[in-house]
Amino acid sequence: MSNTPYRLHYNENPLGPSPEVTDRIKARLAGLSLYPPRDDEAVRNRLAEFYGRGLTDRHIFTTYSGSEALDLIARVFLEPGDEVIVCGPTFHVYARTAEWQGAKVVDVPLDSEDFSLRVEAAMGAVTARTRLVYLGNPNNPTGSIVTRDEMAMLHASLPRDVTVVSDEVYHHFVTHPDYPDSLADAASGRNVIVLHSFSKVYGLAGLRVGVAISRPDIIERLARLRRTFHLGSLEMEAALAAIGDQDHVAQSVALAERGKKRLYAAFDRLKLTYWPSEGNFILFRTPVPADDLAARMADRGILVGSGSRFGLTHGIRVSIGLPEANQAFLSALEGILADGL
Ligand SMILES: Cc1ncc(COP(=O)(O)O)c(C=O)c1O
Repeated sequence: MSNTPYRLHYNENPLGPSPEVTDRIKARLAGLSLYPPRDDEAVRNRLAEFYGRGLTDRHIFTTYSGSEALDLIARVFLEPGDEVIVCGPTFHVYARTAEWQGAKVVDVPLDSEDFSLRVEAAMGAVTARTRLVYLGNPNNPTGSIVTRDEMAMLHASLPRDVTVVSDEVYHHFVTHPDYPDSLADAASGRNVIVLHSFSKVYGLAGLRVGVAISRPDIIERLARLRRTFHLGSLEMEAALAAIGDQDHVAQSVALAERGKKRLYAAFDRLKLTYWPSEGNFILFRTPVPADDLAARMADRGILVGSGSRFGLTHGIRVSIGLPEANQAFLSALEGILADGL
């Protein structure tokens, strides 16, 4: 085993970014003393063209990562005393950024068996103070999705002043036929902000580029928080090059798909419960406390995400790595479970 730990805890792309991205970044290094263009127009135009569906640069706001987009959304939409709905277990940044604005977080837990959205419960939790409904789609850490019908029900029933934040940073990995087309919803003027990131399939987590896609009036509100030089030159160059290499995206998705199949088969053999995932990670149930298992794995050079951060004391989220990493993870898991903790 190599001395570098296998990083199966952050849902990164084990292939790294496209070689075209790294080449273009290298070519840009000579110009680092120069200011970037003030505006990120080139990236927004390229994204609009890529997304199609009638979206324009006015439907798009780029950010310093998906996490920053969540922070800006909370800053624009929330005041102390407002309420937001989150459906746990889910990405902690929704609640954290809402709480930073003094909003009250109302948790409507996902179904305890299959982690599907409890649509009626979510609608029932809406009050006059509700401003945002956060949906991880696919959801981290469960890998579950909100289906087209569920999304349509929400849009049909939510009051006009409640906006859905559909966090779709893992959308490339989805194969489920009922996945909604939220970009089309944004283009048609629904109350939705779709979140994308270059950290996942594009393999650019270290650079920090995110995208919010929504109706132009919502984007204008977000754009009041834009920076003077909105994105750095390396971020812009990388984003443009990454969009241009969809073969790399397809390879990355195929790698994750093969890895998931391999892990599902192993979990079946080991009689461990897992939840089929629409992301590049899998949540499984451990017979021993997740923190202990994660610590033992880390001792063996394999980093995995303990579910305890999400309130899942016996859940582990493992990212799909290269075949060698997946194998190392499985060998370590089998060894630890056989030894007993
Ligand atoms: C569900 C979800 N949304 C958003 C993000 C934010 O990604 P980033 O801030 O790297 O763009 C992550 C990162 O792990 C995530 O899991």
